[in-house]
Amino acid sequence: MSAVLYPGSFDPVTDGHIDVMIRLTKIFDRVVVLIADSPRKNYLFSRDERVELVREALKKNKSAANIEVTSSQKLTVEFALKEKIKVIARSVRTVADWEYEYAMADANRKLAPNVETLFIMADSKFGFISSSLVREVAAFNGQVEEFVPSNVALALKKKSNRQSSGAKK
Ligand code: COA
Repeated sequence: MSAVLYPGSFDPVTDGHIDVMIRLTKIFDRVVVLIADSPRKNYLFSRDERVELVREALKKNKSAANIEVTSSQKLTVEFALKEKIKVIARSVRTVADWEYEYAMADANRKLAPNVETLFIMADSKFGFISSSLVREVAAFNGQVEEFVPSNVALALKKKSNRQSSGAKK
């Protein structure tokens, strides 16, 4: 049985990420989406909230039946080794992603030489979407429906309403 680990912050998950997850199901029997934290980032959604948002977004998608969504506080490669997964998938949108992805893949290879990183090109129609862009649009009450699943758009609205009512106090 072939398996792949797709790690990321997913803060929040976007249509671009969902597209990658579904495409991975066409190559691998088992797709594990791992919600992990990068020490370089501050998160809008907690890890548990991000897990729920991905699970909910995938619920209506029949192709998502073999996708598992989980989280970890360990190194990504440690999780892969524990789960006996030999492939980590990362998505590359434009050349701008390359340097960061290359450094991460190189570090992961040094940490776990038997775990390979596979790069998957994002669909060009999602090439400009990023989680931070979506968060920024939502913070100014802009429309995010065309970038993210509907449950994520709703969660972003709730978060920004809560934050703006907190700011008014
Ligand atoms: N569609 C939409 N957005 C995409 C995308 C796609 N197809 N492909 C990449 N992106 C965007 C994301 O939205 C995100 O944008 P943002 O920076 O504006 O939020 C960015 O590309 C990359 O984020 P993501 O894919 O979520 O990864 P990350 O770099 O935040 O997370 C971890 C990296 C969590 C996987 C990594 O830090 C990790 O493995 N951490 C665990 C600890 C560890 O093992 N550290 C050592 C790593 S060498």
